Amino acid sequence: MIFGAILAGGVGSRMGNTDKPKQFLHIGKKPILIHTIEKFIINDRFDAIIVLCPAEWVSYTRDLVDKHLPENDVIVIEGGELRNDTILNAIKYIEDNYGLDDDTVLVTHDAVRPFVTHRIIEENIDAVLGGRACDTVIPASDTIVESKDGEIISQIPNRALYYQGQTPQSFKAKRFRELYNNLDDAGKRELTDAAKVFVVSGDPVALIQGETFNIKVTYPYDLQLAETLLGGDK
Ligand code: CTP
Repeated sequence: MIFGAILAGGVGSRMGNTDKPKQFLHIGKKPILIHTIEKFIINDRFDAIIVLCPAEWVSYTRDLVDKHLPENDVIVIEGGELRNDTILNAIKYIEDNYGLDDDTVLVTHDAVRPFVTHRIIEENIDAVLGGRACDTVIPASDTIVESKDGEIISQIPNRALYYQGQTPQSFKAKRFRELYNNLDDAGKRELTDAAKVFVVSGDPVALIQGETFNIKVTYPYDLQLAETLLGGDK
């Protein structure tokens, strides 16, 4: 089976003082989260789409989804403390309600990347069905500069070898849980990126070509950019 997990369990601290987490802020006529869910529900390969949000926002999110997407069968449950805990909650829900086997596919996506495309989602699903975890990326556009102490440059690597990570990140759900549970607490705190859990464990992770416009709304500036990208009153 194939599941989509829309990760909306964060609080958006870098967005500054807002009355709600950034995934609930509007771009155009709808909350960011709704734009993102719309990209997933048009794909009929998903057996279920699970939205995970902070515990205290579950009933708010349920109402929001029902208001904007009448007669939807989107599932809304609570996320976890860390981003990967949110993913584990999705996996537990799948296990409890559908059963989990070695081939259960999970497409995880940041709720705050509303411009993901049908092609990107399709290529994520196909990669995992083909036997590989995958990460959506774009080639690094700026030169990457490394500094170990924050004062002096220690290295300027060859930009051609570097990419910027986006989402979706997709994989076999059971394998992710197995690898994540093998980490100690320090490892769990350090590996905030799901793809990295596979990389450090030696499992190959395929690159899926992202889009420059598949931005993550992180700072107030990104909200203005998102409005422009949306292009009108959608
Ligand atoms: N996320 C999640 N569960 C968490 C933390 C983050 O589902 N425990 C989600 C966020 O809701 C977001 C995505 O992961 O959709 C990307 O994370 P980020 O942009 O860092 O979101 P926040 O953690 O909300 O933002 P900040 O770091 O500024 O607090």
